[in-house]
Amino acid sequence: MLRLSLPNIDDAAIAAVGQVLRSGQLVHGEQGAAFERELQEWIGVRHVVLVSSGTAALHLALAALGIGAGDAVLVPDFTFPATANVVLLSGARPVLVDVDTRSYCITPETLAAAIESWRGPERLRAMMPVHEFGHSVDVPALRAIATAHGLRVIEDAACAIGATHSGTKAGAMGDIGCFSMHPRKTLTTGEGGFLTTGDDALARRLRRLRNHGMERSNGVTVFHEAGFNYRLTDFQSALGRAQLPRLQGWIEARRALAQAYSAALAPLAERGLLTLPDSHPGHSWQTYMVALAEGIDRAAVISALAAAGLEANLGAQCLSAQPAFAACARSPSATSNALRLDRQGLALPFCEQYGSAEIARVASALTNALRGTLA
Ligand SMILES: Cc1ncc(COP(=O)(O)O)c(C=O)c1O
Repeated sequence: MLRLSLPNIDDAAIAAVGQVLRSGQLVHGEQGAAFERELQEWIGVRHVVLVSSGTAALHLALAALGIGAGDAVLVPDFTFPATANVVLLSGARPVLVDVDTRSYCITPETLAAAIESWRGPERLRAMMPVHEFGHSVDVPALRAIATAHGLRVIEDAACAIGATHSGTKAGAMGDIGCFSMHPRKTLTTGEGGFLTTGDDALARRLRRLRNHGMERSNGVTVFHEAGFNYRLTDFQSALGRAQLPRLQGWIEARRALAQAYSAALAPLAERGLLTLPDSHPGHSWQTYMVALAEGIDRAAVISALAAAGLEANLGAQCLSAQPAFAACARSPSATSNALRLDRQGLALPFCEQYGSAEIARVASALTNALRGTLA
């Protein structure tokens, strides 16, 4: 079976993990501190705070900004549910914003429409734009809207390590950036995540909240506030550090692969059978998802691809169609693009280890599957 994606872990990475495991220092060691410094430099941001998952990163971001009961947060209606789960679990209300059909992200227009139609009673406090599948959102444009309305910007860059907008990396554009290092992500530590921020006070609070609300100075430990245990282990940091020097090369390979995929699938797009994803030059391509035309049975296509030995899946969820988010405020068009992408999105096998042979295999199997579905 050609898997949707594969982690890229070589012998040197495995050896680095083994070394930490043998050292006896599994947490609070040098690996975490070094990984944070290296990520800061790689992303171009003042602070990186490692945590145990992308969801933990999002949760800490809201906690550090003091967002909770009585507050509302703008969230895309098409994303992985963790983005909105953390808002609900913080006691705030997600306001779902529709996305663009080709970038799969919110836009300044859909965001402005959601803000315009917001009637409360909760107070809008923040927006959480998602760089969906690595497509970088125009954060500077969203920031202008945020400033006009007194909102904080939390970038959900879970899938977007290395994505750029006008030369600035995801995570270096908002107040806080949140990343995942789950195995489906380009750089993985098994589970894991991190936050980015340029704000010293916020970074200090994030570090404290990650570690039970505790700070240690001059040998004295003080618990300043209720916090979490959202720490990443040192052996996970060693695994991440071993991948980081290769990451930019992997992203370039993914960009080339995405171009090749779109060229191979262009005949299907020209026949109106599917829509290709927007290929923004700063896209970091965590996932390659097409949208099948209305009327095509996606489940049948996924089964036909599986029969040909190819793993495929839906890309992300329309939150307003899920029972967990039934009570969420919706933007006026929340049932349009997000719902169509939820029903017709098709994520195809994609990672830097694949090349032209795999693309040809997928394009040919998809062509056959669509022929069968339409017949
Ligand atoms: C957009 C988005 N946000 C948040 C998450 C949660 O990350 P994690 O699985 O590391 O908790 C994911 C995971 O896929 C995601 O795609």
